[in-house]
Amino acid sequence: FRTVRIGLAGLGNVGMGVYKNLETNAGLLRERTGFHLQVTRISVRDPKKPRDGKVPQSLFVGSWQELVADPQVDVVVELIGGTTEAFDLVSAALRARRPVVTGNKALLAERGKELFALAEANRVPIYFEAAVAGGIPIIQTLQEGFVGNHIRSIYGIINGTCNYILTRMSQAGLSYEIALDEAQKLGFAEADPTLDVGGWDAAHKAIILASLSYGFWIKPEDVFVQGIDKVSLTDMSFADRLGYTIKLLSVIRADRDGKVEVRTQPSLVPKSHVLASVGGAFNAVLVNGDIVGETLFYGKGAGQDPTSSSVISDIAEAAATLVYGSRHSGFVPHGLYGKSKPVDE
Ligand code: HSE
Repeated sequence: FRTVRIGLAGLGNVGMGVYKNLETNAGLLRERTGFHLQVTRISVRDPKKPRDGKVPQSLFVGSWQELVADPQVDVVVELIGGTTEAFDLVSAALRARRPVVTGNKALLAERGKELFALAEANRVPIYFEAAVAGGIPIIQTLQEGFVGNHIRSIYGIINGTCNYILTRMSQAGLSYEIALDEAQKLGFAEADPTLDVGGWDAAHKAIILASLSYGFWIKPEDVFVQGIDKVSLTDMSFADRLGYTIKLLSVIRADRDGKVEVRTQPSLVPKSHVLASVGGAFNAVLVNGDIVGETLFYGKGAGQDPTSSSVISDIAEAAATLVYGSRHSGFVPHGLYGKSKPVDE
């Protein structure tokens, strides 16, 4: 097996999930990809912070600058968040011709245009499956699965924190503050939760989905954004009586003239609509393509494990592209028959 060396910048909730799950499923990943995906360097903002003892001290380097320049790193994974230092980090990695994996939706929505230009100039890819809808592989779906479609519209519940809060308010009658506190404790919220409840996290993700669907970037200032911080229990109960539920909905749609609208706002969704049943921190993305018609993607949109699943998928793609020059990790069912037997649940 060939070893592909990973430099992990950031060891927060998602970073820790990536480290842990690369170890837990190392055998499976080796079998499927042909690579040993090994974390060889880690950089953190505060090296003195107490951490899970399972991460060997020897992996830590003094700074992300050191990590990016290290010859023992083949792929740089940016999980530090924010848009300033993360921009410098990703730019430095691209200039050093290291493929980058990032889950940073704010960074891509605000400065994606510059970063993708830099990536193209340096002929090195950026992977960002984890940036939208946590564990749902919606980026790959739009880039590859629907390559033959004009995208007519996307309706998404793409912020797990807001959906968790709204679900707890409507189903358990919890106050907004208590529900937010729960979402933070469960690790769904951003370090700055105003990004979640103010609607901007979902709006950033909507900008990324729009750019993949229509091939141009939309400026954040052109997007209508309204958060859930003003939604009250009274709103909830009126909606309920009228046959609706309130969801933070991101809408991306185009008309026949190529005009594109991107917006995120609390919306009344009829209880009979499929998106009304999306509860907790789950996300759902309803895509309408001119050939495929309507398709629905549902899954955990926030949290350590689901988000790390997408980061790991990107790491596998980055490894395959580095080694074979192809985007595909090349997993195909092997040519033997297994058995199908009832299993004990
Ligand atoms: N804070 C985000 C959310 C995390 O709640 O959806 C996943 O992007």
